[in-house]
Amino acid sequence: MHHFQQRNGTLFAEGVSVTELAEAHGTPLYVYSAATLKRHFEAFDSAFASMEHLTCYSVKANSNLHVLRLLASLGAGMDIVSGGELYRALLAGVPAGKIVYSGVGKKPAEIRQALEAGILMFNVESTQELLRINEVAKAMGKVAQISFRINPDVDPKTHPYISTGLKKNKFGLNIDLSLDAYALARDLPAVEPVGIDCHIGSQLTTIEPFMEALDKLLIFYDKLKAMNLDIRYLDLGGGLGINYDEEQPPHPKEFGAALTKVLGKLPLKIILEPGRVIVGNAGILVTEVLYTKQSPTKSFVIVDAAMNDLVRPSLYGSFHRVEEVTPQGRPAQDVDVVGPICESGDFLAKDRQLPEVRQGERLAVYSAGAYGFTMSSNYNSRPRAAEILVDGEQVIVARRRETFESLVAQEL
Ligand code: LLP
Repeated sequence: MHHFQQRNGTLFAEGVSVTELAEAHGTPLYVYSAATLKRHFEAFDSAFASMEHLTCYSVKANSNLHVLRLLASLGAGMDIVSGGELYRALLAGVPAGKIVYSGVGKKPAEIRQALEAGILMFNVESTQELLRINEVAKAMGKVAQISFRINPDVDPKTHPYISTGLKKNKFGLNIDLSLDAYALARDLPAVEPVGIDCHIGSQLTTIEPFMEALDKLLIFYDKLKAMNLDIRYLDLGGGLGINYDEEQPPHPKEFGAALTKVLGKLPLKIILEPGRVIVGNAGILVTEVLYTKQSPTKSFVIVDAAMNDLVRPSLYGSFHRVEEVTPQGRPAQDVDVVGPICESGDFLAKDRQLPEVRQGERLAVYSAGAYGFTMSSNYNSRPRAAEILVDGEQVIVARRRETFESLVAQEL
């Protein structure tokens, strides 16, 4: 069951007409479906039901408080990478004991904030970071639970900007050097190594790279056991891909079954950090056609959403399906869908077959729920879009549109 569907010739988000939403709230407008969020979270989480596990939704994919609250109400933990994300997760009511903290550059104040909250653990990415956590925890009279993020040197076969588990990437600790790091952690007074962590990349469309990484981690786990370390958690990160275009990523059920087969009998609590697979296809970006124009070699559809609203096409050359909100049945043409920003890289779709559209009509940009609003900016002094969460017939303004005043608020 898809919750963004054409009905009576126009697009609906669950029980609400997207045209009516655009008329009431303006464009560009992010629209999320609560039913889709629930379905995705439950499909993912239930895939691991036979193992002791914790699904820690990766806040960076979509950090709107309303989205976090909804996921928290379903029992989600959270994967955070900053003090700001911790603040959001706690505000959304996520129990601190279900929060894991990843990222290569945690600052002392952020470490303190996380220890005060009492998070489950830090995923540590360098020995200097380990020493820093030890120092901060010691001064607070606490002991920090930690995992090291292991870089298994596995190729996730995804876009280079979102591959993270190769030797050349900045992430994690080289697997061959990690035993020494665990030995160091064991001997420090204010950190306790309790887990192993790994995240190899994002938008993975096959299971093999995950399994390859897992094989390496399990060999490593045996070595840690031989050191008499009490490892209780295995965090496998996020990364499961979604369908933007023609990809055929494994269903979470398949992913869960493959992992359960290998891990089912081990005395470990499995942590997963899905982001995109939960929110990606639970959101669209709605935009209005401002102008169309032809150059001798190209046709352009100029819309009111831009790279500041959705940067993925500009940054990664990502494909997002673009369709009319209310299809008019005109013949297709080859167009670039571009925004108002003063950059040639400001496009939402390039060389795309799109039915001829006219001024004032609206387009839906699909699969925009993950890394859409969270990567948006105010470039060209554009107030950021509003976000709407639809739940059945109910419309929740999840974030009000920014105003000119909000643009300058911190400068006055
Ligand atoms: N855990 C860690 C440590 C991560 O770094 C990430 C994503 C995740 C979990 C969630 O990964 P997911 O399940 O969403 O693939 N901006 C890029 C994606 C960057 C991903 C960064 N890390 C994009 O728009 O494609």
